[in-house]
Amino acid sequence: SPWAVLFGGPSPEHEISILTGLQSERVLTASGEQVLPIYWAPNGDWWLVPAATEAKDYLNGVPKGAKAVDVRLSGDTGLYVKKRALDISAVLLTLHGGVGEGGGAAALFTLLGIPATGSTLFAGAVGMDKLAFGGLMEVAGIPALRRELLSPTRAPSFPGPYIVKPRFGGSSIGIEIVEDADAARAIARASAHLRAGAVVEPYRPELVDLNISFRTYPQLEVTALEKPVRSSSESGLYSYAEKYLSGGAGAEAGLSSAPREFPADVDPAIATLAAELATRVAEVTALTGVVRVDLLLDEASGSLFVNEVNSIPGAMSLYLWAPQVPAATVLKDALVEARDRRVVL
Ligand code: DAL
Ligand code: MG
Repeated sequence: SPWAVLFGGPSPEHEISILTGLQSERVLTASGEQVLPIYWAPNGDWWLVPAATEAKDYLNGVPKGAKAVDVRLSGDTGLYVKKRALDISAVLLTLHGGVGEGGGAAALFTLLGIPATGSTLFAGAVGMDKLAFGGLMEVAGIPALRRELLSPTRAPSFPGPYIVKPRFGGSSIGIEIVEDADAARAIARASAHLRAGAVVEPYRPELVDLNISFRTYPQLEVTALEKPVRSSSESGLYSYAEKYLSGGAGAEAGLSSAPREFPADVDPAIATLAAELATRVAEVTALTGVVRVDLLLDEASGSLFVNEVNSIPGAMSLYLWAPQVPAATVLKDALVEARDRRVVL
């Protein structure tokens, strides 16, 4: 039976998920796999879309030739009878943010009895909650920046300036930098992205972003370090499409991407420490599948901090496995892990 790739989903990261889904479909198809692309529209409807659609086909909604998929457990008309009209070996989840990455999709497929890639509901939810994840790092003694709930009534226990982040968000959407506690609380009320919950951290512009990924099948394995080179405009389907689909450093993995330093030009001791931290994050979070860990480096002191995890990282993270593991193998292994996993809850 074919694999399915599920992308879109109700989340501010909907558009990025489309790109991850289409890139994953492309990589799998090019390696000879049979793939059913399924698009989860913002209104909650699911669609089996034609093979090899492009990001621009989604700018005006659902691509031409899409067929409705009925896999919802509930809707306007109540509960549906479980159907398995589509014969699928396993679903590759390429959903970012929201219920897709936050454990909801894992729960849905567990209930449907269809194998899906990635983590359990529990691990996915903790990975998506910046406050819970920060607490887990603290409990495990894994170095991380201070992180507190942005309370409407209490000032943070450390001084500004602050970086304010949506508690449950991703892809840098909705992040604000503010001088003091009053400004933090004001922005939390004004921003739609922050209203559902926000965390504050010390703003440390001197820290350098570094990314590393792990996967848990066939065994726990960690990639080399990457230093992302981020453009200032990161929102909107066009800018993402330009950035992610326009050629660059990911080409060796069968992907295209923005300019990046890979492997990152850092002290070998930093690279070793990063791999250790990624391994400890894997253990303490119980995240499974392919996961990217975002780190922050203080170059002056050599201190490394775990910033966050992406339990369903964007397609560009796939090339972190290159050249040791081809992107298609990473995706296929994740699907096999899902298919062969016995879920015991
Ligand atoms: N949340 C995005 C897709 C990422 O960090 O990869
Ligand atoms: Mg993210």
